[in-house]
Amino acid sequence: MNSKITSKIIGTGKYKAEGVLTNHDLEQMVDTNDQWITERTGIKERRIAPSNIVTSDMATHALKEALDMAGKTPNDIDMIICATVTPDMPLPATAAFVQQKIGASNMCPSFDISAACAGFIYGLSIADKFIKTGQVKTVAVIGVEMLTRFMNFEDRNTCVLFGDGAGATLLTADTGGKGVLSTHIYTDGSLTGLLEIPGGGSKRPPSAQTIANKQHFITMEGRETFKVAVKNLSEAAETALEVNGYKGEDVAVVAAHQANIRILNSVSKRTRIPMDKFAITIDRYGNTSSASIPLSLDEALRDGRVNDNDLILMMALGGGISWGSALVKW
Ligand code: ACO
Repeated sequence: MNSKITSKIIGTGKYKAEGVLTNHDLEQMVDTNDQWITERTGIKERRIAPSNIVTSDMATHALKEALDMAGKTPNDIDMIICATVTPDMPLPATAAFVQQKIGASNMCPSFDISAACAGFIYGLSIADKFIKTGQVKTVAVIGVEMLTRFMNFEDRNTCVLFGDGAGATLLTADTGGKGVLSTHIYTDGSLTGLLEIPGGGSKRPPSAQTIANKQHFITMEGRETFKVAVKNLSEAAETALEVNGYKGEDVAVVAAHQANIRILNSVSKRTRIPMDKFAITIDRYGNTSSASIPLSLDEALRDGRVNDNDLILMMALGGGISWGSALVKW
């Protein structure tokens, strides 16, 4: 028995919105076509949450599933971390709403983190550190995004890419040698301009002008972000393997951020981890930002793709530019 404390993932869950927006639906809205979207991104359809649902509802649903899988109750949760750039509102944290909706203790620290598509890896890293210090035992880490409410459905460069969704994981202290082996997180603040929602913050407080200028919508320099993503994700993946003494061939499942199937193909080539090890969900959900790793992990688990002692490699990159990787032993 290994007496070192690790953070073991004991439950996962997701929120899958009922609304489906296909590439053919988008053909009716902007100058695009199914062939371009499929070939350039790998996306066939994405999910859109109904208007009566907010971000914390999606997060709460995913967390309920994770608790059920783990056989735990809301009272077992010692901390809630919500990774999101599309919160219910700027203040308070979406995690505080989740605490109330799930019925966790009203003393349980609950906070959001903003690292865009890399948010889940950041959350996992923070949870892992808290668990390892012994300060908390069980932490909920949720990736949740309602990006379709921040999208300009007249801009074909962005509106074909994103979808709504949530994924949750429940981590608990363990001494059996399983769980999070390492996390690596990075930010390059010189690249903030590549991905933005430019209006609505202190720089450009919401006004009739920011709305008229469509600054409340997400903008992205796709081509440049693509290049940075392939390089940084490959390097972060290699670091995760190297520090733990593993090689690409040791990995059983890759739960990577789903931004573009071509990014994943390039990372697969660079890291020599075959594509059939990647859990792919982008075709059905689009880019769900911070939700995409836990959502893909949940699908892989429920599809029986993950076995005892398997190595799971996670990696993500998004606005910031922020990125990171994690290696988990199941
Ligand atoms: N339909 C048809 N044509 C289109 C569309 C569309 N939906 N969108 C763009 N085009 C056109 C462009 O106008 C351009 O035409 P032009 O050559 O006449 O100017 C052409 O297609 C090529 O455009 P590019 O932007 O160069 O297309 P690219 O192949 O780079 O694909 C994409 C764009 C999908 C955005 C890609 O660059 C990408 O995936 N980038 C990385 C995304 C990413 O990783 N983001 C980080 C995470 S997201 C987050 O943090 C919230």
